[in-house]
Amino acid sequence: MYKVLKELKVDLGERSYPIIIGTGLLGEYDLTPWVSGGQVMIVTNETVAPLYLEKAKGCFPGKAVDVVALPDGEEYKNWQTLNLIFDGLLENRHTRHTTIAALGGGVVGDMAGFAAACYQRGVPFVQMPTTLLSQVDSSVGGKTGINHPLGKNMVGAFHQPQAVLIDTDTLMTLPPREVTAGLAEVIKYGLIRDKSMLGWLERHIDSLRGLDTVALGEAIYRSCLCKAEVVSLDEKEGGIRAILNLGHTFGHAIETFAGYGHWLHGEAVGTGMMMAADLSVREELISPADKARADELIRRAGLPEKAPAGMSEADFMSLMAVDKKNVDGQLRLVLLRELGDAWVTASAKPENIRATLQAFIS
Ligand code: NAD
Ligand code: GLY
Repeated sequence: MYKVLKELKVDLGERSYPIIIGTGLLGEYDLTPWVSGGQVMIVTNETVAPLYLEKAKGCFPGKAVDVVALPDGEEYKNWQTLNLIFDGLLENRHTRHTTIAALGGGVVGDMAGFAAACYQRGVPFVQMPTTLLSQVDSSVGGKTGINHPLGKNMVGAFHQPQAVLIDTDTLMTLPPREVTAGLAEVIKYGLIRDKSMLGWLERHIDSLRGLDTVALGEAIYRSCLCKAEVVSLDEKEGGIRAILNLGHTFGHAIETFAGYGHWLHGEAVGTGMMMAADLSVREELISPADKARADELIRRAGLPEKAPAGMSEADFMSLMAVDKKNVDGQLRLVLLRELGDAWVTASAKPENIRATLQAFIS
C-alpha cells in the first residue's frame, strides 16, 4: 500500500498543480484525475524502463498506454532524440487529447515536457521523476527543453505539468554519484533562500548520502516547497526565479566544455556554487567564514571542487557569454548576499570574476 508523506501545490492560478511525495506510489497511485483524455504516452529511457515502467503503467488505470524509451544520457538531450518522441506519438495515433508522462530523471523530464509543449501545439503532461535531482528540482516549475552543441538548455519552452508524482522508493536504485549530484540542488535551496535548511543539511548530509528514507523525504519536501514558492512568484523568470540558477552560469559552462554527459549537471552546479560563493566574497557580500561553510557542505556532499582539467578562463568567458540570464551582452550572475539570500547582478567587477575563474581552473 502506498503512503503519501507530503503534498504541496505550485500556485499558478488555473495552471496550479500538486506535488505528491511518498513511498510505494508508482503502480499504486491513481494519476487519472490529471489525465483528461483516454491516451497516455510514457516517455522514459532504456535504464529506467526495466526498473519502473511496468509499475508506472499502473498509475493510469483504464487508459490506453504507449511507451517511448529513449537512449540514456545528457548527450542525447537533443533534436534527434526529441524526434523519437514525436515518432512514437504519431505512429501510435496520439491525438491532441493525449497526456505525456515523463518517467525518469531530469533529461527525460525536460525532453518529455518539451515534446508536450510542442506536440500538436501543446498537450498536457505529468512528471514521475526518479532521480534525486529531478525530484527536488527539474520536475517542478515547467522549464522544458534540450541542449544545443553551443549551450545547455538553449532550446525549450515553459510548459507546466498537470501533476508531479515523487516516489522516493525509486532513489534506492540510484547510483551514488547521481545521489551526490542531486544533493547539489538541495544545498542550493539552503544557500539561496532557506538558511535553516543549511543547518539541517549539515546534520543530515551523511544520512542523505546513505539513502536514509526519512531524511530524503524531508530534503525533497523542503526543496520542493522552496522551488514551488519561487516559481509561484515568478513563473517565467522575469525576476526572482533566476536565483534558482545559483552556480549554474559557471556550471553550464563546465558541462558544455566537458561535453554533455561527462560531468553530471549537479556536479557542475556544485563546483559552480563554490565559484559563486568565492565571487561573493571578492565582491565583499559574504564573509570568508560564510564561504567556508558553503564550501564544506558542498565538499561533504562529495561534489567536485575544481573546473575540468584544461578549461581556461577564456573557455569560461566564451561559454558564459551565451547564458540565458545575460541582457544586451552583459554577464549576469547569481551571487550570495548572505547565506540564505541570493540575487542576480550584472555589477560583479571583471577583475573579481577573473580572479574567481583563476582560483578554480586546474
Ligand atoms: P538524468 O536524467 O541523466 O539521470 C541520471 C541517470 O540516472 C541516468 O543514467 C538515468 O537513466 C538514471 N536513473 C534515473 N532514475 C534512476 C533510478 N531510479 N535508478 C537508477 N538509475 C536511474 O540526470 P538528472 O540529474 O536527473 O537530470 C539532469 C538534467 O536535468 C539536466 O539535463 C539538467 O539540465 C536538467 N535540469 C532541469 C531543470 C529544470 O528546471 N527543468 C532543473 C535542473 C536540472
Ligand atoms: N532550475 C532552475 C529553474 O527551474 O528555474
